[in-house]
Amino acid sequence: VVLAQVEQVIQVGHLLDVRTGNYQKNKAILVDEGRISAIVDAKDAPKNVQIIDLSTHYVVPGLIDMHVHLTSDPQKHGYRGLVETPTREAIFGVSAAKATLKAGFTTVRNLGASGYADVSLRDAIEEGEIQGPRMRVAANTICITGGHCDNNLLPHIYNARSAGVANGPDEVRAKVRENIKYGADVIKFAATGGVLSKNTDVNASQYNLEEMKALIDEAHDRGRIVAAHAHGLQGIKRAIEAGVDSIEHGSFIDDEAIKLAKKHGTYLVMDVYVSDFILSEGEKAGILPESLAKEKKVGLLQRQNFQKAVKAGVKMAYGTDAGVYTHGLNGRQFAYMVQWGMTPLQAIQAATVNAGTLLNWRNEQGQQNVGVLEVGAFADLVALSADPLQQIKTLEQPVKVVKSGQQVL
Ligand code: ARG
Repeated sequence: VVLAQVEQVIQVGHLLDVRTGNYQKNKAILVDEGRISAIVDAKDAPKNVQIIDLSTHYVVPGLIDMHVHLTSDPQKHGYRGLVETPTREAIFGVSAAKATLKAGFTTVRNLGASGYADVSLRDAIEEGEIQGPRMRVAANTICITGGHCDNNLLPHIYNARSAGVANGPDEVRAKVRENIKYGADVIKFAATGGVLSKNTDVNASQYNLEEMKALIDEAHDRGRIVAAHAHGLQGIKRAIEAGVDSIEHGSFIDDEAIKLAKKHGTYLVMDVYVSDFILSEGEKAGILPESLAKEKKVGLLQRQNFQKAVKAGVKMAYGTDAGVYTHGLNGRQFAYMVQWGMTPLQAIQAATVNAGTLLNWRNEQGQQNVGVLEVGAFADLVALSADPLQQIKTLEQPVKVVKSGQQVL
């Protein structure tokens, strides 16, 4: 074999194939321009290049969190958030991005930020100015007037309105176009009320079917996947019928909606950890009393329904809503997913191959960029000191993190 173009060699003791759950032993990952160019037996690897030695470790693909808000400070909930500006939020995002990367999450989907702060953060990371995960960003979450993404904290005299507000099929199409114009890679909209928004009902739908279809069709025409924030059952079903790619939260999903998700190939991204933070530390962090009351009605049911959906075999991707809670603790949700019915392999798949597939982010040869350790993918990986299939919590503490073939932890 002629291996002219090898920049780095990563020696791996136990390499998890996340598609099958099998380990390959003593392999060498060859890296060219930040991507995997070949995976060979360790003994056949070129010796005259820079080597990262993970020969005693368990290695999984770089982890993906499909639902974060890197520009959100988890200590500034509720009315405290009113003094924040997109500029301040972008600067906050610098440390959040670093913490997330060091936790082993080499890719995130950022589902909502104001003033395109997420676009700026993504670009600063891409240009190498700051350290952070690869970001696929949604920019402004799209919602109805008074909906989950709107600013409902002040009376009308202040005329506060979030930039993502759009009503009617034409306005939602225009809002998708505007987001894309200024840098969105993915689209997020609110299909129901939320826990943390003032004066919204988690069970009540936001947008009719026609609006959802217009929004999703517009995004798909432009090659963007769409994520729907949805707790309530009707909103979940409507978004699935309208062709959404993923349901976020999915709290009140029932058997019929689970069937519908399976039929349409819709992913569920259920944030089954965050409830613990909201209920124990939320008050200190400024979360409104009405939101705490809502969380008490959502948290446990969401976990039970997660378990049902896992049993039924719905496609699942890993998303935590970090930003609502502390950045860098993204890995805590793995153990919760296992506690609520997943095998360790399923939980790892949710954060790797499934997330990468849902992102539908590919190189010029059509190969998946992230979520797998295969030729053509970015050389992003996490090294662990124990076997995560035996000890899921080892994913909370990666010992080494590699992004684009470079060790970042
Ligand atoms: N951002 C979400 C909302 O406000 C957080 C929901 C958190 N609760 C939960 N059980 N997942 O609705």
